Amino acid sequence: MITDYSQALLVQEVAPRDGLQIEPTWVETEDKIALIDQLSLAGFSRIEAGSFVSPKAIPALRDGEQVFNGIQRQPGVIYVALIPNLKGAERALAAEADELNLVMSASQTHNLANMRMSCEASLTAFFEIVAFTAGTGVRLNGSIATTFGCPFEGLIDEDRVLHLVETYQQLGIQGITLADTTGMANPRQVERLVRRVLQQVSPADLTLHFHNTRGLGLCNVLAAYEAGARRFDAALGGLGGCPFAPGASGNICTEDLVNLCAEVGIYTGIDLPLLLKLSRSLPALLGHEVPGQLAKAGRNCDLHPIPT
Ligand code: COA
Ligand code: ZN
Repeated sequence: MITDYSQALLVQEVAPRDGLQIEPTWVETEDKIALIDQLSLAGFSRIEAGSFVSPKAIPALRDGEQVFNGIQRQPGVIYVALIPNLKGAERALAAEADELNLVMSASQTHNLANMRMSCEASLTAFFEIVAFTAGTGVRLNGSIATTFGCPFEGLIDEDRVLHLVETYQQLGIQGITLADTTGMANPRQVERLVRRVLQQVSPADLTLHFHNTRGLGLCNVLAAYEAGARRFDAALGGLGGCPFAPGASGNICTEDLVNLCAEVGIYTGIDLPLLLKLSRSLPALLGHEVPGQLAKAGRNCDLHPIPT
């Protein structure tokens, strides 16, 4: 029985966006919709259901409109769309996304590779998006990709990240996501930066987005949680990655994260058996094994028959 929801950990499921954007095999629109509809029943309050970016940049998600129009929206679930520019905002609003996730990298080089524009041009686009969405009731979240390191530039100056957080807030973007695009963060760095950012952003508005590229994903979650963060992105099966970041690999795995929370006594409200069932259906959908561990090992309580 949970008594203190301030200690709960909120999981935002991002497999339909971060997970599928890098998949080489085309996933049919109806299969994307079916996946999101199942995830909507697993207890998530937020699902990143797709992106509205250039279909040439991310062909795997070119059917964003059909996906958003086809899903069965559950009450209490916020369906998020990632966007890079005003055109993305127009498409996302037409498709009735509940929240827009505006993405830019802290690293100029990665922003040029990923968004084909400078950070200044991205911020100008954000300004246009804020003006365009004013009065519509749509929520805005701003992600800072490569917060903890860039595959081209290396370590990112923490003061630059703090300054970008402030810039987002001044633009009128309330939610902030610190994203470790290629898994370069370590727990000490995470703890330090989260403590600093939480002086500017409330825990209810701050999301941490970790990739498990170097095996530190869940260590970083615990470090961020201990520092006061409460919201985390994760992808079913540990899918995911940015196609414009060399060496990118999967997000932290949702069912592994939910299992960690269950084992250490942090409430998530997520239906773990349903997640395991969904995760185990991914290899057939995608044509390859997925990185998540729990779907292979089972939970601690899934005991085996005693050998005879
Ligand atoms: N949705 C759909 N099409 C878009 C679009 C959007 N949000 N933004 C631009 N386009 C189209 C333009 O209409 C134009 O189409 P055309 O060639 O048929 O005329 C074409 O894309 C090029 O437009 P331009 O503004 O010159 O964009 P660009 O080629 O400089 O690319 C981005 C800029 C931001 C659109 C592109 O780099 C992008 O979508 N990046 C996102 C990458 C991503 O999702 N990464 C992973 C998530 S972090
Ligand atoms: Zn990511």
